[in-house]
Amino acid sequence: MIRELRWNDLEDLVANYYSYYDELKDTPDFGISFYKERPDYSSEVEWFSGLFREIVEGNALAVVAEENGKVVGLCDVHRVRPGTELDHSAVLGIAIRKGYRGKGLGGLMMKKIIELSKGKFEILKLEVFSVNSRAINLYRRLGFVEYSNFPKAVKRGDRYYDLIQMYFTL
Ligand SMILES: CC(C)(COP(=O)(O)OP(=O)(O)OC[C@H]1O[C@@H](n2cnc3c(N)ncnc32)[C@H](O)[C@@H]1OP(=O)(O)O)[C@@H](O)C(=O)NCCC(=O)NCCS
Repeated sequence: MIRELRWNDLEDLVANYYSYYDELKDTPDFGISFYKERPDYSSEVEWFSGLFREIVEGNALAVVAEENGKVVGLCDVHRVRPGTELDHSAVLGIAIRKGYRGKGLGGLMMKKIIELSKGKFEILKLEVFSVNSRAINLYRRLGFVEYSNFPKAVKRGDRYYDLIQMYFTL
């Protein structure tokens, strides 16, 4: 089931986020950028309340994928610098827990967030590791267009990753 975020999703979302830090140990190319130290629980509560505040203020949207009563994925968009000439665009992020990928949940969450973004934002944009072909396939299929490549944008230990930037006109 794809639905909008709820207050009581906090625990599942923190567990999912921490699972990505665990996954990084065996998957050095994992396609989201991480803090060098895993944020503690109180930082997670701060992140979650900040996200809700942005939603209430009309500056963010968040949808989740729920399977058997557990939240297994999150897709959110955040308005770029509210109150400035940049604020007609929003930045999108998405991640699904291991075991639930490649089943179409990413596409469903993105379609839902695109639908909710209409009338609120004019442009969505995102950044994706150039090695993340699954994500790039998905974004292209939904109509996102590549507009630049930022070489060595991510430094993970002694390895560098390029970030491709893409946009979608709502
Ligand atoms: C990227 C992510 C959100 C995609 O969601 P998903 O539910 O796995 O993707 P979907 O099943 O909706 O679709 C993926 C597309 O890639 C294709 N695909 C699946 N596995 C693939 C692989 N290993 N390599 C290349 N393409 C692949 C699918 O066939 C599908 O394309 P199609 O619909 O044209 O056939 C999800 O895999 C994820 O959370 N990954 C880890 C975190 C991450 O990388 N986030 C993105 C940060 S920018």
